[in-house]
Amino acid sequence: MECIVINGGRRLEGEVSVSGAKNAAVAIIPAAIAANDICVIENLPYIEDVDGLTKAMSQIGAICTLRDDHTLEIDSRNINHCCATYDSVRKIRASYYLLGVLLGRFGRAEVPLPGGCNFGVRPIDQHIKGLTAMGAKVNIEHGIIKARADRLVGTNVYLDVVSVGATINIMLAAIYAEGVTVIENAAKEPHVVDTANFLNILGAKVKGAGTDVIRVTGVSALHGGTYTIIPDQIEAGTYMVAAAITGGDVTVHNIIPKHMESVISKLGEMNCRISTGADFVRVRGNDNLTSVNVKTMPYPGFPTDLQPQMTALLCKAKGTGILTETVWENRFQYINELKRLGANIKVDGRTAVVSGEAGLTGALVNATDLRAGAALVVAALAAKGETVIGNVRYIDRGYERIENKLGSLGADIQRVDRLV
Ligand code: EPU
Repeated sequence: MECIVINGGRRLEGEVSVSGAKNAAVAIIPAAIAANDICVIENLPYIEDVDGLTKAMSQIGAICTLRDDHTLEIDSRNINHCCATYDSVRKIRASYYLLGVLLGRFGRAEVPLPGGCNFGVRPIDQHIKGLTAMGAKVNIEHGIIKARADRLVGTNVYLDVVSVGATINIMLAAIYAEGVTVIENAAKEPHVVDTANFLNILGAKVKGAGTDVIRVTGVSALHGGTYTIIPDQIEAGTYMVAAAITGGDVTVHNIIPKHMESVISKLGEMNCRISTGADFVRVRGNDNLTSVNVKTMPYPGFPTDLQPQMTALLCKAKGTGILTETVWENRFQYINELKRLGANIKVDGRTAVVSGEAGLTGALVNATDLRAGAALVVAALAAKGETVIGNVRYIDRGYERIENKLGSLGADIQRVDRLV
């Protein structure tokens, strides 16, 4: 069992480069199935979710060749069945994208209900609503989502909640549908736009991604292509918060500053000095951070996937900060682990009240999910003494060798084999 061991209290300083975006990669990899051809995906993050998804793709007949330059070649010419196995998809939320893309190309898909981080009920009713409206018959039997359609026909789909997954899944199913599919109240996240851009370079007709109305006009064929994944907004935000909590001076490279606006604005309000260039952001923390209130929202609001890291940062700031989680019903499970490090936080439903200047100290803790793990890493960087973080496999789902990147900034951090 691997752990991350951090001796906190060191100021982070220097430059770090962000990998390709996890949530774009896990949509673009299955999207490649839409083309009966070869696609090359560049700037691929080497993370567990990508690894798992690549295995699920291979299992249905896609030939996936991972190169050592963060490039993945996907040959989808020999897909030989439309049923993903439970073992290949059970840990990955994004396995639900296989549903839309296989249904769209072959008229048939069977995918076990998706896994992923557990922060309450994670329904897929909006995915099913969209596919059904396009003419598919969708049933869930023995834990497997089964979808069939002789032909899919474009229609208007209004999403009752803003859902990244449902937006992308409906977009994937609509590529070959007859006529125009209009997705209203669509998610606007950068990874939705990235997936649309990828599909368009293959010959799809997707318009409006990045706004709340997306129009997909069905085409008869896609061809292969080469595409570079956007930088990971959440990984970048995590290193920005790490710089702030250690009073450091860190330049985060390979980012799109526009994607970071909500984080830049909150860190600025907290008294950090921030400067940006074409593809970098520099964060300078200090000993005088002040608390802020944060409410998570779909993009361009403050991302729920940075909420746990922000909670860790508020533990260090002066005053009281209130965090309101509006996206997930149960995304405060990690707070009990933060309390082991000395955090003073009260949770009431979807609100967490964080009392600052907590005087964090090292302890044995366990990651309860991916971003929870990131929050524990961030807190441990500022805690006095040694913190041992277990369940590192969660962190590896979304961060490429986090210990190497933080180590290069001066953190005392190691990955070790040790039982917690
Ligand atoms: N929802 C429904 N019905 C649906 C789908 C979603 O009610 O059919 C609700 C959810 O319960 C939630 C809200 O809509 O309250 C948003 O869910 P969404 O579908 O947008 O989430 P997702 O697609 O399952 C992606 C990311 C998550 C990220 C959320 C929100 C991927 C693979 N995952 O999940 O990322 O938190 O969007 O931005 O893209 C992470 O990276 O740590 C992570 C959890």
